[in-house]
Amino acid sequence: ASRKLLAGKRLLVTAGGTVERFDPVRYLTNDSSGKMGFAIAEAARDMGAEVTVVAARTDVPAPGGVELVRVESAEQMLEAVLSRYAEADIVVKAAAVADYRPVERHASKLKKSAGTLTLELEKTTDILAELGRRKSGQFLVGFAAETERLAEHAMDKLRRKNCDLIVANDVTMEGAGFGGDTNAVQVFDRDGAALSLPVLSKRETAERLLGLVASRLGGASPE
Ligand code: PMT
Repeated sequence: ASRKLLAGKRLLVTAGGTVERFDPVRYLTNDSSGKMGFAIAEAARDMGAEVTVVAARTDVPAPGGVELVRVESAEQMLEAVLSRYAEADIVVKAAAVADYRPVERHASKLKKSAGTLTLELEKTTDILAELGRRKSGQFLVGFAAETERLAEHAMDKLRRKNCDLIVANDVTMEGAGFGGDTNAVQVFDRDGAALSLPVLSKRETAERLLGLVASRLGGASPE
């Protein structure tokens, strides 16, 4: 990463898990720690990029030397990302964005009553798909968190969301996915497998991924 393969590039990366509230103190979220997104931000910074991180809920400190934008919900992440999209050269969607949010957001804390409580959920906007639709020269990298048929599902997301690359992780695999310090990813482009990495630190994974991105942008080759 000491080589400045991304010098002069603006990179926007999302990190963490969105928080979807249904009352002032209760919400739906997921297991994302922010480690993968932050590792990408750090690696990109060290490769010379100008980096903006849009981060939802995270469990670890944010890296220095990057612009940090804090958001909470999928809706806020959508706004934060869209408003910075035009000036980005590379966008990496490592955040785990909620697919559904509670329809109602109660202004005061829900009271316990007899019987069951039903939460009604509605779809959130798919941020990555929206970026795919509005692409105007950006290099768009999506993630895919899969539990089965990794390649097939990842390729389907790549096409539907108009990504240039998709980074698939099997989140049921030991050493991969949510929370830990390591990941094991397979990267696909429109033609199929582009890079297959073993279990590596999230930092090393980020460096290898960004090396591939740099080579696709017409920079030096990653190895
Ligand atoms: O944060 P860590 O603990 O380090 O964990 C890393 C990770 C497992 C969260 C990360 O490696 C990862 O897989 N991130 C994507 C998680 C996810 O939401 O995957 P998905 O297959 O549901 O979504 C596919 C893509 O669409 C993702 O790029 C996601 O950011 C995007 N998406 C999804 C829904 C939505 N409403 N908007 C989106 O932009």
